[in-house]
Amino acid sequence: MPSQAPSESAAGSPDTPYFAARNLHAYYGQSYIVQGVSFSIREGEILALLGRNGAGKTSTLRAIARMDAPHLTEGEVWLDGQPLHTMRSHQAARLGVALVPEDRRIIQGLTVHQNIQLARIAPPLGWTIEQIYELFPRLGERKNQEGTTLSGGEQQMLAIGRALARDVKLLLLDEPYEGLAPVIVQEIERTLAKVRDLGMTTVIVEQNAIAALNLADRAVILDMGEVVFDGSAQEVLDNADLRQQYLAV
Ligand SMILES: Nc1ncnc2c1ncn2[C@@H]1O[C@H](COP(=O)(O)OP(=O)(O)OP(=O)(O)O)[C@@H](O)[C@H]1O
Ligand SMILES: [Mg+2]
Repeated sequence: MPSQAPSESAAGSPDTPYFAARNLHAYYGQSYIVQGVSFSIREGEILALLGRNGAGKTSTLRAIARMDAPHLTEGEVWLDGQPLHTMRSHQAARLGVALVPEDRRIIQGLTVHQNIQLARIAPPLGWTIEQIYELFPRLGERKNQEGTTLSGGEQQMLAIGRALARDVKLLLLDEPYEGLAPVIVQEIERTLAKVRDLGMTTVIVEQNAIAALNLADRAVILDMGEVVFDGSAQEVLDNADLRQQYLAV
């Protein structure tokens, strides 16, 4: 364990979670959005972070990735023994936090290949471009196409592929199925299952709760900026009342 781990934390003990968000409080200006959120994730686990529109899911991911907004006023974020809460977003990214935002941020004027290459200009490097094309053959077939002209599903693959080009320890996916046709959702689901089988620690935020729960090991449900459920994904799949109350599915 790195020396930054404070002695009062459980770092170094066999129970230390790989990832932990502890008592996060975050604001946009005066708006108090994330209200004491805590959860932890084991290495290789997939956690579905669910909740209604406006529950605070994107804000929680952004607070974890140390984006400038929302502003984290209290709480700790630990990844593999590193205190992310003391860092800026670029440092967190260097330590392996990859946030794939809802809008996917494909860079205009660059081909698929150049988009991935750009992610690989600075260490720590992750997967090779060949490995990424192996996972997403469609990207390989379209490597010379301009990234922004890809279909929505292909752009999602490119956004995930680009994240994997860095040495990712924690993959944060914000609505990867958003706006995609069911058949494309299935294709992305199969790919994410492959990523899971490779042992990638992942948080998936999704309106399509059932799809996210089918992929995930665990689920955390947010409501008005607070955690109202933390348990197994299967428990949520089995509990229609819980889904109705907080997810409306
Ligand atoms: N930049 C911002 N400035 C002010 N308020 C914001 C900002 N971004 C989000 N909010 C507010 O914070 C609350 C939580 O938003 P957030 O985007 O985290 O929700 P969400 O759970 O991701 O919702 P959705 O499912 O609709 O994506 C909302 O009330 C939203 O209006
Ligand atoms: Mg959101």
